[in-house]
Amino acid sequence: MFALFLYLLGTLAAALPAAAANKTHLNPTIPGWHSDPSCIFVPEWDDTFFCATSTFLVTPGMPIHASKDLVHWRLASHALNRQNQWPHYNTTGQNDGIFAVTLRFREGVFYAITFFVSDGSNPLPPGLLFKTTNPFDDAAWSDPVLFQSPSIDPDLFWDDDGVPYMTAAQSIISMIDLETGALGPATQLWNGTGETYPEGPHIYKKDGWYYLLIAEGGTELNHTVTMARSRSITGTYIGFEGNPILTNKHTGEYFQTVGHADIFHDAAGNWWVSALATRSGPEWINYPMGREMVITPATWAEGEFPIVSPVRGNESAWALPESTNVRGTGPIYGTPDVFDFSPGSAIPSNFLFWRWPDVDSFTVSPPGHPNTLRIQPCPDISSGDDPISLIMRLQTDTLFEFSIDVAFAATTLNEEAGATVFLTQVQHLDLGIVLLSDSATGPATPHLRLRTAGGGNLGAPPPPPMIYSIPSSWAEPITLTIRANNDTHYTFSATPQGGAAHDTVVLGALPATIVSGGAGPFTGALLGAYATGNNGNGTTPAYISRWRYTGIAQQIDNNTFVP
Ligand SMILES: *[C@@H]1O[C@H](CO)[C@@H](O)[C@H](O)[C@H]1NC(C)=O
Ligand SMILES: *[C@@H]1O[C@H](CO)[C@@H](O)[C@H](O)[C@H]1NC(C)=O
Ligand SMILES: *[C@@H]1O[C@H](CO)[C@@H](O)[C@H](O)[C@H]1NC(C)=O
Ligand SMILES: *[C@@H]1O[C@H](CO)[C@@H](O)[C@H](O)[C@H]1NC(C)=O
Ligand SMILES: *[C@@H]1O[C@H](CO)[C@@H](O)[C@H](O)[C@H]1NC(C)=O
Ligand SMILES: *[C@@H]1O[C@H](CO)[C@@H](O)[C@H](O)[C@H]1NC(C)=O
Ligand SMILES: *[C@@H]1O[C@H](CO)[C@@H](O)[C@H](O)[C@H]1NC(C)=O
Ligand SMILES: *[C@@H]1O[C@H](CO)[C@@H](O)[C@H](O)[C@H]1NC(C)=O
Repeated sequence: MFALFLYLLGTLAAALPAAAANKTHLNPTIPGWHSDPSCIFVPEWDDTFFCATSTFLVTPGMPIHASKDLVHWRLASHALNRQNQWPHYNTTGQNDGIFAVTLRFREGVFYAITFFVSDGSNPLPPGLLFKTTNPFDDAAWSDPVLFQSPSIDPDLFWDDDGVPYMTAAQSIISMIDLETGALGPATQLWNGTGETYPEGPHIYKKDGWYYLLIAEGGTELNHTVTMARSRSITGTYIGFEGNPILTNKHTGEYFQTVGHADIFHDAAGNWWVSALATRSGPEWINYPMGREMVITPATWAEGEFPIVSPVRGNESAWALPESTNVRGTGPIYGTPDVFDFSPGSAIPSNFLFWRWPDVDSFTVSPPGHPNTLRIQPCPDISSGDDPISLIMRLQTDTLFEFSIDVAFAATTLNEEAGATVFLTQVQHLDLGIVLLSDSATGPATPHLRLRTAGGGNLGAPPPPPMIYSIPSSWAEPITLTIRANNDTHYTFSATPQGGAAHDTVVLGALPATIVSGGAGPFTGALLGAYATGNNGNGTTPAYISRWRYTGIAQQIDNNTFVP
């Protein structure tokens, strides 16, 4: 009888977490360039999951994403949202800036800790620690506490006695004073399993063990997640014999580069792992969205290392009750952009800049031009570290359509305004309205020009510019459209105001490999509007209206697309 009771108890306990039937979980959980995710579950905030991702040179930076079911997500805030929090973006290194963020919560306070990589001109300590008591309010995020981080990817962990520790790449740990940033003596914990770049460390304590989770192999095809543990926080850490706990290396999977993970559990005690992944297949050539955020279920039995489900586009996972009811007022991911820049409206909060913008270059509904966004041109969007006149949103779908209407009364040779697919300042695809002269002495007239900067993974010389002289009969504003009808190409077209379908001019299609890899291995495609003098004398502003972005489908496996 007693034995039967024990047996029943055992069965019941084993059955508890799986009480609800599994559900299909689709990846990427947050599509589009969202690398190095770090996630927490916060019962104190209405059982909400929060994740932070890295933004490199993009501002506002360090987005905090919120969800109640790991399916529906909302932008909660940007931890780095004011230029005076961290002005030091004056670097020309296209993969510099805000590297991996660790997000943690303790005693009512959210902490976002990171490392700013620059060209060496920044004289300040590169470690940055931001705090808030309200993750749904940009303004509530503090200025950073600076610390002399010995390496990238700082983590935060509090021991049972409440003492906080910072652990950076190469698993170098120190106590940290969260008010001053002062660090205690450093100890190196673990070299990993011997793969390259042991980075992205996180420490957890469970069942009397300190667990150290790291990324290894570099954030490319060899990316893996490994773990070690110790009875004492400063070591000795012994690697798990089942390492790696998560990787897609040496597989034919569509999702590659899986790594840089974090582990957390939901209200039912079921475990989940967040990581970055690239939708490239093992060829790893065509992946304009770069490193995206995936989530996969895990089991973590008492006294054991976790067992993590391999990352796939369609996984069976713990069933969380569906909830679209996330707190906050930020944009809900997956909803189309329908922005008309009406008088009195703000610049939409999912819009992004490359470094800090000159705020005076972007004006919603300026006098005489209601329902437009005025962009004052910069000298050059392709080089330099001055503010550039470029405003963007992420490409978040394999197939999508993006369009803007552009009114641009160009008067000066070479001045240009248009729509772009942008990976970095040296890799972008631009469809511009540009004032060109057909001969050295001829008059300058408006043209459409589709041209490329950089070559990325194209593996061939980029195609020459495609140019079309705009007929004088075309009424402004001109609609510029970028559409991905398949996963390998973007199609660029232009339509005059009031034009019928047959008035649309298709300039051409450009391969997405040009905005994959190359000089932008850490970033992902952005779509936006720009105005530039192309280093000439032009100062004519562009007026952007009817900004639209609609996702059409996500590719989640070799030949599988989902709406
Ligand atoms: C970048 O900005 C910092 C702080 O404003 C300044 O100290 C540094 O000299 C600048 N570096 C360059 C290359 O302009
Ligand atoms: C990691 O490797 C370095 C170089 O071989 C060595 O000096 C160091 O002691 C190793 N660290 C640990 C924790 O084993
Ligand atoms: C992955 O590791 C193998 C050795 O295991 C190496 O030959 C290869 O170059 C690495 N690939 C990348 C993309 O780092
Ligand atoms: C998916 O395509 C890759 C090549 O990109 C191949 O190695 C792999 O076997 C394919 N997977 C399936 C399930 O067909
Ligand atoms: C995911 O896989 C399940 C089980 O194979 C299947 O029923 C479901 O249709 C798939 N969903 C998608 C969107 O492919
Ligand atoms: C439910 O998902 C978990 C996590 O992936 C897995 O361990 C378990 O086997 C799944 N259960 C079923 C019945 O598929
Ligand atoms: C993808 O679209 C481009 C542009 O329309 C086209 O040239 C290319 O052939 C398409 N690729 C496939 C595999 O259909
Ligand atoms: C800009 O204007 C100046 C003065 O008119 C002229 O000398 C110069 O050539 C112009 N520059 C370009 C790039 O057109």
